[in-house]
Amino acid sequence: MSAARARLGVLVSGSGSNLQALLDASARGDYPAEIACVVSNVPTAYALERARRAGVPAVALDSKAFGSRAAFEQALGETLRTAQVEWVCLAGFMRLLSADFLAGFPGRVLNIHPSLLPAFPGLHAQRQALERGVKITGCTVHFVDAGTDTGPILAQAAVPVLPGDDEASLSARILSEEHKLFPLAVRLAVTGKVTLEGACTRVAAPPATQGLCLHNPGMPG
Ligand code: GAR
Repeated sequence: MSAARARLGVLVSGSGSNLQALLDASARGDYPAEIACVVSNVPTAYALERARRAGVPAVALDSKAFGSRAAFEQALGETLRTAQVEWVCLAGFMRLLSADFLAGFPGRVLNIHPSLLPAFPGLHAQRQALERGVKITGCTVHFVDAGTDTGPILAQAAVPVLPGDDEASLSARILSEEHKLFPLAVRLAVTGKVTLEGACTRVAAPPATQGLCLHNPGMPG
């Protein structure tokens, strides 16, 4: 008999391509998590349509329609608990969550962010990377605390910034790595392969076996 799959609540605000990556992963029988519900704070988010198409309960909680952050978070918490959610994944969810809300899911809230944190937290991470002129950037999955993209880092993937890149081309290159990294990080977290150690994590997983070093510009020869 196979082990019970972890129940994920996925929070979204936009297109939901990272949600789609999690939906696709969870559609495979050997994936250790299933998506119990998707909640968007933006009622028009395309992510809700992706959830419905996959037969996953999709809930719109318009954050602007609530009188306070506390009221919004109370409704959010009730929705997640009703769906018996064990882990919360922020997949392009563009709201900060309070320490009070996070205390309801201790050590069980993960976020994906389009930079190599701690560089470029907050909004427009790809634009920040272009403006700063870095040659390598990427994406990060981290545990969420009440700061802005400050919680313990679980997994990262790096991509080069190429000559002529604009925000759209760099975002697309990062996003395609996000779609691999988030399902991997969720798999590791829900199967107990990740231990929180203060501000850091210990990850019991095989090391990278390809592309061990990324140079930009490339090394001659
Ligand atoms: C992704 O690039 C994600 O990393 C970013 O929003 C995008 C959502 O795309 N999240 C943040 O910037 C959070 N700070 P998606 O809706 O297609 O998954």
